[in-house]
Amino acid sequence: MSRFARASSSRLRIPVPNPDLARLPVYQPGRAAPAGAVKLASNENPYGPSSAALLAIRRFCAVERYPDGSGSSLRRALGRSLGLRPESILLGAGSDEIGDFIAHAYLQRGDSVVYPRHTFIRYPMLAQSVGARRIVSDVRPDFSVDVPDLLRAIRTARPKLVCLANPNNPTGACVNRKDLLSILERTPGRTLIVLDEAYFEYARLSPGHPDGIRWIRRFPNLLVLRTFSKIYALASLRVGYAAAHPAIVSELNKVRPPFNVSAVALAAAEASLSDAAHVRRCAAKNASERDRLSSRLAALGVQVFPSPGNFLMIDRLPGRLDGPTCFRDLASRGVIIRDLIPYGLRDHIRVTVGTPAENDRFLRAMRDLS
Ligand SMILES: Cc1ncc(COP(=O)(O)O)c(C=O)c1O
Repeated sequence: MSRFARASSSRLRIPVPNPDLARLPVYQPGRAAPAGAVKLASNENPYGPSSAALLAIRRFCAVERYPDGSGSSLRRALGRSLGLRPESILLGAGSDEIGDFIAHAYLQRGDSVVYPRHTFIRYPMLAQSVGARRIVSDVRPDFSVDVPDLLRAIRTARPKLVCLANPNNPTGACVNRKDLLSILERTPGRTLIVLDEAYFEYARLSPGHPDGIRWIRRFPNLLVLRTFSKIYALASLRVGYAAAHPAIVSELNKVRPPFNVSAVALAAAEASLSDAAHVRRCAAKNASERDRLSSRLAALGVQVFPSPGNFLMIDRLPGRLDGPTCFRDLASRGVIIRDLIPYGLRDHIRVTVGTPAENDRFLRAMRDLS
């Protein structure tokens, strides 16, 4: 028995955690790739960060100093690039951390949180961690949000929080501009709407994909989450941001630990913002590899759900495998993907769009299984 298992046995007197944690699972990150394997499990950008970001990291040496606790230089740079005042921007150690701030600042036990079925696992986890009620709205057969059902859930549950990922991880489904506007217009001002745009810089290549930040002035109950983990390829440095009305940012700042974003992350993120060409190049390479992957998979008889992000959800797996078996069989061939059991999807998997060589390896392994 491990030391931790012993410590949690009932014979020992140990502090009792918040009872709402009793049934809360630990988030399972994508499995680390063993040497020689390719990891297509965590929606990272395989092309790496901008050379400007790498230079900023290499030059960084003031490790003995605390970072700028308010990240003012990065918030100013974001403000310039997004057309917002720095007071409307809050930084987090990844956008995940901002989710914790939101739960801490806005949710109490018994409050309701509404989100669509099969959405990013962090939203139910946040609600559960504070004893909030989880209200799941329906999706259509193509996994897009059933907007009338979402609005009905908002009307009846009177939630404190609505969470929407656009595009959605893991399904890739998007809320279009018209539907987003109707959700924003029909949600009461007392409800905070968290619009998670982690993949926005990929998705904006799709004609008509809405930009949530444009709606912040008109809807003061809207908070948009974005991250430097995806197209900016700084996942391991942990930096993301929220854009919202300054009154919301100011509440979230009360629960934000000082110095939550490291100085290296601040410097690399700010340098990345100055390299728009790198972002454009990565988005274009991703789009052409995503299209190639989709058509090759379709040729294998696999159903591919359209996604404007850097990942694809797929169904009708080769040899009628279920997701976990497909995961195991691909892993034995050196390719790590994600099964979607935690999302309630047994017969689907999610694969990140990698480099051409990584995608070829995945396609070869899928062909072997067919
Ligand atoms: C929809 C969505 N939101 C947020 C995140 C987490 O981003 P970060 O690395 O900024 O915490 C992810 C990561 O996979 C995601 O898919």
